[in-house]
Amino acid sequence: MPTWSNLNLQNSASPLMEQIIFFHDHTLIILMMITILVGYLMFILFFNKFINRFLLEGQMIELIWTIIPAITLIFIALPSLRLLYLLDELNNPLITLKSIGHQWYWSYEYSDFNNIEFDSYMIQYNKITPENFRLLDVDNRIILPMNNQIRIMVTATDVIHSWTIPSLGVKVDANPGRLNQTSFFINRPGIFFGQCSEICGANHSFMPIVIESISIKNFINWINNYS
Ligand code: CUA
Repeated sequence: MPTWSNLNLQNSASPLMEQIIFFHDHTLIILMMITILVGYLMFILFFNKFINRFLLEGQMIELIWTIIPAITLIFIALPSLRLLYLLDELNNPLITLKSIGHQWYWSYEYSDFNNIEFDSYMIQYNKITPENFRLLDVDNRIILPMNNQIRIMVTATDVIHSWTIPSLGVKVDANPGRLNQTSFFINRPGIFFGQCSEICGANHSFMPIVIESISIKNFINWINNYS
């Protein structure tokens, strides 16, 4: 979960987030290879005695230092596009969750089940208990079953918000007058935190998102006992 001094991405809770982390590491290694090569070349320039007073052009070297970076970029572009299209895919979702952004809280609707709907506010500093996570926890958490394809539909009522859960690799803008959708698959139980990530106003930092991922059996139980 998000906590102090984290330098890396959060642990993934979905197959797509795992792929995003692999892609991030892959790109970072290419970046390091470029940085080391260019750094070495710049350093070595200080110590040579090559002089060419009549240099005007060098067709061959220009060809080489144009094509090599172009090939390198293909190795980043192709996996990036693959991920982009995989993230956009909807694979027969079992459940649809609607999330609506407001200034400054989220509200949720489970339209598949007898119209369950509730608001989800951050726990305030004066109401916090030792069981809560400061600035990240909410009074009403989203309950979702793990190992199922879930669709979320995102919209807003006032300004643009963004429904973002880093450990699931989900980030969808919530626009007024527009319904955006995406899907994800949670592959383990747990509590996953997110925050609004579109600068929406004064209390932008204080509209977190919390998902409780539980087994399908417990989820059905929760649906049946919801009052
Ligand atoms: Cu809602 Cu930022």
